Amino acid sequence: MFMSKAKLFTFCWLAIALAANAQRPVTVELPAGQMQNKARTACTTCHDAHIIVQQRLSKAAWDKEVDKMIKWGAIVNPSDRDALVEYFSQQLTPDQPAYVAQRSARSMH
Ligand code: HEC
Repeated sequence: MFMSKAKLFTFCWLAIALAANAQRPVTVELPAGQMQNKARTACTTCHDAHIIVQQRLSKAAWDKEVDKMIKWGAIVNPSDRDALVEYFSQQLTPDQPAYVAQRSARSMH
């Protein structure tokens, strides 16, 4: 009835391996551009780039979004604010195809 030690070992090992695999971070980069480095510094301290690159916003919406993040604590040099809004609104526009999220877990099918 009881699992042999070898089987138990294999089972535990598999469980750990699966858990580790599921937690492997998927690195998502911000779009290439002049403001990429500054955006990385200012915008990926609290959350990663996923939440940003999945957006499809108008310039007016990016304008609000950047100000909202500044109010929430993003450190943006005032002289970089407009350039950041410009960067995001040129790269992540409503006419782009929808973002396809990468899955962190490997497909089981
Ligand atoms: C001080 C922490 C902090 C920084 C820095 C920050 N954000 Fe956020 N951001 C948040 C939080 C908190 C949320 C909400 C997360 C959630 O809903 O899971 C969020 C959510 C977002 C969202 C999703 C839409 C929304 O409004 O909830 C976008 C887009 C976004 N941030 C963009 C940015 C950009 C662009 C920057 C750089 C200018 C930035 N963030 C910097 C804290 C931050």
